Parts: sequence; C-alpha cells; structure tokens
Amino acid sequence: MTRLTDEFSGGWQMRIELAKILLRQPDLLLLDEPTNHLDIESILWLEDWLAKYPGMAIVISHDRRFLDNVTNRTVEVMLGRLDDYKVPYSKYVELSAERREKLSAAYENQQRVIADRERTITRFMAKASKTKMAQSMQKQLDKMDRVEIDEQDTSVMRLRFPEAPRAGEVVATAEHLTKRYGNLKVLENVDFQLLRGERVAFVGQNGQGKTTLAKILVGAEAATSGKATMGYNVAIGYYAQNQAETLDPKITLLETMEKYSPPEMRTKLRSTLGGFLFSGEDVDKKVVALSGGERARLALACMLLRPFNFLVLDEPTNHLDMLSKDVLKQALLDYKGTLLVVSHDREFLSGLTNRTIEFRDHRLHEYLGDVNYFLEKRRLDNMRQVEMRTTTAKAGNGYAAPDERGKAGSALSAEDKKQLQRTVQRTERRISEIEAELKKIEGKMAESDFYSRPESQDVLQKYSAGKAELEKVYAEWELAAEQLG
Ligand SMILES: Nc1ncnc2c1ncn2[C@@H]1O[C@H](COP(=O)(O)OP(=O)(O)O)[C@@H](O)[C@H]1O
Ligand SMILES: [Mg+2]
Repeated sequence: MTRLTDEFSGGWQMRIELAKILLRQPDLLLLDEPTNHLDIESILWLEDWLAKYPGMAIVISHDRRFLDNVTNRTVEVMLGRLDDYKVPYSKYVELSAERREKLSAAYENQQRVIADRERTITRFMAKASKTKMAQSMQKQLDKMDRVEIDEQDTSVMRLRFPEAPRAGEVVATAEHLTKRYGNLKVLENVDFQLLRGERVAFVGQNGQGKTTLAKILVGAEAATSGKATMGYNVAIGYYAQNQAETLDPKITLLETMEKYSPPEMRTKLRSTLGGFLFSGEDVDKKVVALSGGERARLALACMLLRPFNFLVLDEPTNHLDMLSKDVLKQALLDYKGTLLVVSHDREFLSGLTNRTIEFRDHRLHEYLGDVNYFLEKRRLDNMRQVEMRTTTAKAGNGYAAPDERGKAGSALSAEDKKQLQRTVQRTERRISEIEAELKKIEGKMAESDFYSRPESQDVLQKYSAGKAELEKVYAEWELAAEQLG
C-alpha cells in the first residue's frame, strides 16, 4: 500500500514508488486517496498506468473523474454497510439512485397494503364469527417479507460565503514579479491582473509556484523583485494550502472558532459549526482528535466569520468528501465576489472558473476558459499524449502563447480532428448562449426607466463583458473551424 501524504511529494516521487511496487509484481494494489496531492498531469499518468496494470486494484478516493477512469466496480460504504456494484463510479451513482427510488416505491406500496390489512383485521376481530380469519390474516401479515429502505447519510455541510462591500475594479496585480527562495527560482518576471468578479483557477504540477503566487498576492509572502498590489477596498478571505494544519491542536473546536471570530459573530459560532456538521458535544472536542476531513471543515468554518470580496482558496478540496466538495462548489458558484482557486481536482474546477492559469517553467500560461478548456487546449485530456509534454515558453513578458500550438503542421490526426470538432461544438454552443443572454439584456435596456434603475450600471457592465467574451469565443471558433477546413 502506498500513502502519499507529503504535500511536496510530486508526481515523480509517486511514479518511483509505483515502479518499486510493480517490481514486486503484486496481484493486488491498494491505493488510499492517491490523487490527493497530485497535479493533473500526474493523475492522468496514474490513470494510464493503472489502465495497463494487469493485477487487481482497490482504490479509495473522493476524485470522481479518477474513479470513473480507473475502476470497474464500486463498493459503497455507508452507515456501516457495504453495497457492491459491478460498475464504475458515475454508473454506480445512477444505479444506486435508481435502486433507492424503486425500493422506496415498493416500500410505500407495501405500507399501503399493510395498513389496509390491519384495518380489515381490526374490523374482523370485532366480529365473533370472523375472529379466526382475523387471526390467520394477522399471522400471514407477520410472516410477510418487509421491504426495508436504507437510511441514507444525507448530512451535508451548509455553506454560504459572507460578502463584503464591493472592491475596486482591479482587485490584485503582479508586475514583473520574480520570486526566488535562495537559489531556487520559482517565478520569473510574471505579470498578472485580476479584475473584480473574475474567477481564476491556478493549475500546474506541484512545485511550480501556485501557492507562492497566491501568498504573494494576498500579502503573506514578499516578492524577490517586481511589485504585487492589492486593489481598492479589497477584503481577502484566504484559505492556505496548509490551513487545516495551522489549527491549534490543543484547543477545542469552539475555542478555535472564538479565536478567529470578531466580537459580533460570537453568538453564531455554534450554529456555524452546526452547518459544518459539528453539533452538540462535538464542539468541545480537541482539534487533535479530528480527522483530516473534519479539520478541513473546521478551517473552512473559520473563514466564514468575516466578510470578504476576494476569496483565495489554495487546494480547498484536499480531504473533503464528495458531498462536502459539491456543497463547497455550489457555494462558490453562488459567490459573486472575485475568486482565485488553486486545485488539481478536475471535477471541482469544471465550470467553476472562466480563466485558467497554468504554472509551467516559471511562467504563467493563460487559458480563457475553465479546466476542461485548458485540458482540451493542452491536449491533455487524452492520456496517451501526456508523455509528450512539450515546453512552449517563449514570450518575454511572462506569458507564453499556448494557443499557438494548434496551428503548426498541416495533416491533422484523427485525434486532432476530434479535438477541433469538439472545440467547434463547444464554441458554437457558447456563442448561442451569449447571444441569447445579450438579447435578454438588450430587452431590459430598451425599457424606458432602465437608466434610472439602481442595477443599470451592473447590467451595462455585464453587457460589455458579454460582448467581449463573444468576440473571444468567435475568434476561437474561427481558428478551430479554419483548421478543420
Ligand atoms: N518557504 C520556502 N522556502 C524554500 N522553498 C520553498 C518555500 N516555499 C516553497 N518553496 C519551494 O518553491 C517551489 C514552489 O512551491 P509552491 O509555490 O508551493 O508550488 P505549488 O503550490 O505550485 O505546488 C517548490 O519547489 C517549493 O519546494
Ligand atoms: Mg501549492
């Protein structure tokens, strides 16, 4: 069994560990949360490796996509019971929901039948001539196989981000920023700007400087040279990569919350903890007694005690179970402030951000879309191509031009063609979405009292943002359509 817990253990370390295990030619491989600390490329590599692995593998994971890609059987562990499904994860979710639905329909039917019988029995019991019959009916009823429905563990944390007043137009800026730790060069002359309302993901292999830049932007770390500035009226909520480990193990949950809480929130601490599934006597437990997932939930709860308009989350899903991850994602989708999130979790990032910054070779590589767009552009969604990583950093301003890559070469492989077709389909979909949205806004703008309404500024801003995105998506469509010929 391999356990990868060190946050610095990168993909290569894991590959070496796996190679060592493979040399022993085991029949059974047990992996406990193998993707927790891996970057996307290493996860793809591991998926590929497991696909070729001839033995049997048991994987414990909260990473949906990973499970789907590497497993063909799913065992649900819930409330002390095991349920075995001979299918991959997503299919299991479907089947188990179906099963629950069928079961609950059968249960209700049976309950109706039982109630009817019982009424009849009571009626017959009252008549001397029918007592015998009532008794035998009762016996039959007692022998009936009862449908039992499973209780389901539906306890889910409740999460809403408290929002602060609006920040200025520019939320954070890095100019010609370089960062070294001693002789180790991490970031070289990078430029980065984050505007109000933008949602950005930082992705890339471990050790490429994602955490470092996040720290510099929030003011938790100094740059070696260059400048990082925070915008006007920015209130930061920062969840550090090791946030859960910074909690004092010797104090209780409630004391931890008190430590982070402004006075006016003191009365809400218990209910906030309740929202994160800590109730009753839980709140008097010492932090040292908590599991990794519980610590992560507590650290998130501590964040919600102050309002913010700029949220920086560094690997927030490590240790979270799938339900909690969904809740966090939903809360982030509802959050209207500016968002910067560092993550390796494709499922979590999918649809969450509209910019993806890949950290590679001391530079930032920008992709104007979510993680799926990034993977598509980087041709990484196809696992076989992961081995053929290339370095493209060329430009001098800190941004390379990853989108140039698609242009080279004349003959398209079947793979490339499929990619391009997907891009065309995706952009066409997006174009019609944006156009519909713009049309809706135009309708509003045509209303006579539009400009006197308080929200008109916001609407106009949304309109111009929509137009700008439309241009971008059109350009992308054009490029892909052109290459397809
Ligand atoms: N305080 C520090 N002192 C020395 N080296 C550090 C320090 N923090 C990070 N590093 C190194 O800087 C590089 C970038 O780290 P980090 O920003 O944490 O990467 P990422 O978040 O992308 O995994 C890594 O090689 C890491 O070991
Ligand atoms: Mg990091």
